[in-house]
Amino acid sequence: MSNSRLENPIYVALDTQDLSRALELARSVGPHVGGFKIGLEFISAHGPEGIRAIVALGRPVFVDVKFHDIPNTVAGASKALATLGASIFNIHASGGEAMMRAAVDAVSGANSRPKIIGVTVLTSLDNSVLESVGQSTPASEQVVRLARLAKASGLDGVVCSPQEIAMVRAACGPEFLIVTPGIRPAGADLADQRRVLTPPEAVRAGADILVIGRPITGAANPAQAAKAITESLRLEEAL
Ligand code: C5P
Repeated sequence: MSNSRLENPIYVALDTQDLSRALELARSVGPHVGGFKIGLEFISAHGPEGIRAIVALGRPVFVDVKFHDIPNTVAGASKALATLGASIFNIHASGGEAMMRAAVDAVSGANSRPKIIGVTVLTSLDNSVLESVGQSTPASEQVVRLARLAKASGLDGVVCSPQEIAMVRAACGPEFLIVTPGIRPAGADLADQRRVLTPPEAVRAGADILVIGRPITGAANPAQAAKAITESLRLEEAL
């Protein structure tokens, strides 16, 4: 169990191109969650100004940019992103050790250095897709390999699927940040997610941050939905 368990682990995915909708959602769920996650859809629509607008709400923001390029380019992009006030951003661990180290070095002088986490294997890639791109190691083995490499390269943690939390925790130790999407409260609509865990299950397995989108943002009352999930975790802790 890592230290960040003490904080609210829920980050709400603001997956929209509509800035006022994102701000309205963020303001309504803000009091009940630990932070916000914005991804490529939002960033492509609103760029650095959009990131600043979400950061300005005063809560931790995970910017899901998934950088993957040569070390020099990723270093420059990481340095630029670090000036926007994100608390966490991510880069592909498969970019290799030199790329990850370049990113870490690039942000080390930043005022409040963002945490950098590695993307391991996208959950949209199964073993047969990996095989087709010349990657014969099974996905779960590759996730652990990349998580170890991310740690050895100075990254603060990784993003992985709920199924991989326990393996990564065992391989990388208690201080390594584990962020997981694919979270569904019991009885919730799975939508396009397949292998899911409930919020208490994910925390029990060793996750530090749970990225939750539609179960909160698609609810009739997003604030109420966020509050109920947070309460399910508090109940669990009290047991
Ligand atoms: O709506 P939902 O809870 O499924 O949203 C999950 C969020 O996590 C989305 O922003 C999605 O892009 C992201 N994500 C994911 N699976 C991954 C990586 C990221 O669902 N493997």
